[in-house]
Amino acid sequence: MAAVQEMARWQRLLFEVEREFVRTLPTLIYRVGEPELKYLLCQHVWEAAGHARFLRERGRELSGFGAGEEVSAELRRLFDEAVLADDGYVALAGFYSVLKPALLRAYRHYVATTEPLADWPSRKLVEEFIRDEERHAREIAGYLTVPLPRATHAWCDHLGAAVSAFGGFLGERPSASLPPGFAWEIERRKYAHPLTCNRGVYPTCSSVFSHDPKETPIVRPWLVDPATDARVIRIMVYVWLMMEMDAVDYLATVFYDTPGAPFDLHHDLARHLWDESRHSQFGFRQLPRLGVDLMTVEHSLDLYHILVRMAPHERYAMMTMEFEAGSFPTKATVMDRVRELNDFEADTLLAFDRNDEQNHVRYGHRWLPEIMALAGETRPVDEFVRATQEKFTELAARHGGQTPHGLPPERRLTGEKILRLVANA
Ligand SMILES: [Fe+2]
Ligand SMILES: [Fe+2]
Repeated sequence: MAAVQEMARWQRLLFEVEREFVRTLPTLIYRVGEPELKYLLCQHVWEAAGHARFLRERGRELSGFGAGEEVSAELRRLFDEAVLADDGYVALAGFYSVLKPALLRAYRHYVATTEPLADWPSRKLVEEFIRDEERHAREIAGYLTVPLPRATHAWCDHLGAAVSAFGGFLGERPSASLPPGFAWEIERRKYAHPLTCNRGVYPTCSSVFSHDPKETPIVRPWLVDPATDARVIRIMVYVWLMMEMDAVDYLATVFYDTPGAPFDLHHDLARHLWDESRHSQFGFRQLPRLGVDLMTVEHSLDLYHILVRMAPHERYAMMTMEFEAGSFPTKATVMDRVRELNDFEADTLLAFDRNDEQNHVRYGHRWLPEIMALAGETRPVDEFVRATQEKFTELAARHGGQTPHGLPPERRLTGEKILRLVANA
């Protein structure tokens, strides 16, 4: 059985590496500014979760994979180190020029080494993962600035030395000793999320919701007023969807803060994250088609600013039990109104959004007690959720509403502008 055990051990190592990508790659999402880059990272986190899941499933068919799902301390230290780059783009270079290529090498080594007929099920999986990893490299290539600035080079050399000390993720290369003077950053300091999230070139504000059509694009009473033109509602709901970028940025913070989570929790969080990024893309893609210049749409930062000051289980409770569970009645009204337009694409996007959101609330019921337990929270769920809602209100009073409008009223998208846009269409 030695041959089986060796391949099972490698699958175990690959599972652990993919798990670590799921735990740490999300820390890049709120530190980079381009929406399309955030979307790609969410997609890659979700694909890494899928790779890990299939490796675990296949690995457990083999003797030697091991019963638990813990990650070795050395591997964890390497990924904790990768997170510590000072800047989101330096971290991006470390992940995509050092760690992901090392994973691809390990997968290629697996396929080149295993017995193709005997280990056919694993080989088919790994061949597919290789294609995914090659695509990930292509998708990110345009965001890795070439030539890399010197600080980025130094960081990639630093991480590369740490990977070489492993001898590759499967030990497929002779392991090199760490260069003289090599010092782990992670032994000197801890990672902390930035107190604000990066939205790149886009103008920002506190919130896109208000009661004032001169102030924000989404005018709350208009969403449910039967007299509102359905075309106005369609644009407002696309702004709402695009602003699920909030959920993308703050949900991305939860992975790193829950290192003791079972893999299945991170798997479902990864799916949740990918869903939110798709919802945001619905708006990002459709608004320009309806004549909206995205440079006039301010991005709201309040939710990130408030939630990043709360504990991870509190963030998750607010997201699933308050924001998502509370959004269904208004969204149902909005969907009925949009249906009047016979806009098949809008109906489709909203229907998928609704279906995903129902799953998210289900995830919340499944995982909130577990994520509370990880944090040592022992109150009953209901009591904890109520206390968390109160805490959110207090923090919102202090940390909400602090981001001034990035654009003067005449240049930003507001309810009034949407009226005019629709009238001139
Ligand atoms: Fe969503
Ligand atoms: Fe959601």
